[in-house]
Amino acid sequence: MKALVLDAEGRTGIVRDVPIPEPQSNEVLVRVRAIALNPVDALYTAYPLGKSGRILGSDFAGEIVVSGSSVPSSSQLKAGSRVAGFLQGACSKNDRPGAFAEYLVVPWDLVWRINDLSFEEAATISLCALTAAQALFLRLELQAPFSLSQKQPHDDLKHESISIVINGGSTSVALYAAQLAKASPTPVSLFGTASTRHRSFLSKAPYRYDYLVDYRDEDWSNQILQPNDGRGLDFGFDCISEGSTVLKTARTLRQGAKLAVVRSRQGQAWNTSRDELGVEPSYGAVWEGLGEDVEYVGMTLPANAQAREFAVAFYAWLSEGGKIVSNPVRLMPGGLEKVVKDGFTLLGTGSVNDRRMERREEEYMRPVSGEKLVYQIK
Ligand SMILES: NC(=O)c1ccc[n+]([C@@H]2O[C@H](COP(=O)([O-])OP(=O)(O)OC[C@H]3O[C@@H](n4cnc5c(N)ncnc54)[C@H](OP(=O)(O)O)[C@@H]3O)[C@@H](O)[C@H]2O)c1
Repeated sequence: MKALVLDAEGRTGIVRDVPIPEPQSNEVLVRVRAIALNPVDALYTAYPLGKSGRILGSDFAGEIVVSGSSVPSSSQLKAGSRVAGFLQGACSKNDRPGAFAEYLVVPWDLVWRINDLSFEEAATISLCALTAAQALFLRLELQAPFSLSQKQPHDDLKHESISIVINGGSTSVALYAAQLAKASPTPVSLFGTASTRHRSFLSKAPYRYDYLVDYRDEDWSNQILQPNDGRGLDFGFDCISEGSTVLKTARTLRQGAKLAVVRSRQGQAWNTSRDELGVEPSYGAVWEGLGEDVEYVGMTLPANAQAREFAVAFYAWLSEGGKIVSNPVRLMPGGLEKVVKDGFTLLGTGSVNDRRMERREEEYMRPVSGEKLVYQIK
């Protein structure tokens, strides 16, 4: 089969012929039909953590070819089932293959059944929607719209209304976070930042922001507080977490509020102290949902059974028809051979503020804004 593999010396990806993987008894073999791109896919190709030859890429959607012998029939996963999920690709030192290939294997309980979406739409969901769900329901402890065996301390808030601010409202992660926040049984007032041109799109279903400001305004934190009579909000989710954005988000919160971030102080994406923020932001990596050790340079996130259990519950909810609208899809021309040359060029090296080093004239090479880059795998 064809796969996009890491060339660590060249800090790029190249399409190679590699063997089709064989599923273990708890895995399914998937014929990949669409892949979606995430900033981390580009980041760890430009700054490799592992050796050449490993398969790149995270998000996929496709059809099951074979189910392993211990996959339960109650899962309804059989040859021909349409599924989506994500793998870790080259985003850790651990040598596990990624998703940018014609075929892949994945544990059966870490995929979800695609109901009424195209492969292209479904491919945009697994990684970023799980990132958003982990932040809201595991780390900020809002009440989830699906059942969890872990107790959520904020259960006692379930009949009260809460306020949340989401910074970076047009990012892929935030497009899912807004929908999931509004899907919580707890009534949520949603505040956010986005470019002015996204305001009308984000005010409507399925996002339904109650109040939006432009993140380019230096005093956006103060503007967020205005409709709330100057009172700080209950929860914050910074979907950018770079430079001063964590401080600006923290400034919109009340004392005792909780704040989640997508990038860490330890990873040097931002460096504001806890004292200055007035809250210690909670960071987590979506990979924890895969339930394996995740090794970076000088740091290992140990396998996290609770995070895996959460991912399984979230994907079961999606399989059972949990309502989530995909990111708007920008279908990119070509297939695996174009991912690095076009898609990774648009994503830069992972920072949402440091994109598109090389200017290109084609319409599909405009900056990524409120959309997900998707390739079909034919
Ligand atoms: N912790 C984890 O496990 C995890 C998982 C997934 C993603 N992430 C990280 O989360 C971040 C977002 O990823 P993504 O895929 O959701 O991004 P994305 O969709 O590629 O983000 C693009 C959007 O960012 C907006 N933007 C750029 N700079 C901004 C700023 N300073 N303030 C507000 N909005 C800004 C742009 O809006 P305009 O076009 O309107 O300017 C654009 O719509 C990345 O750093 C990614 O690496 C972390």
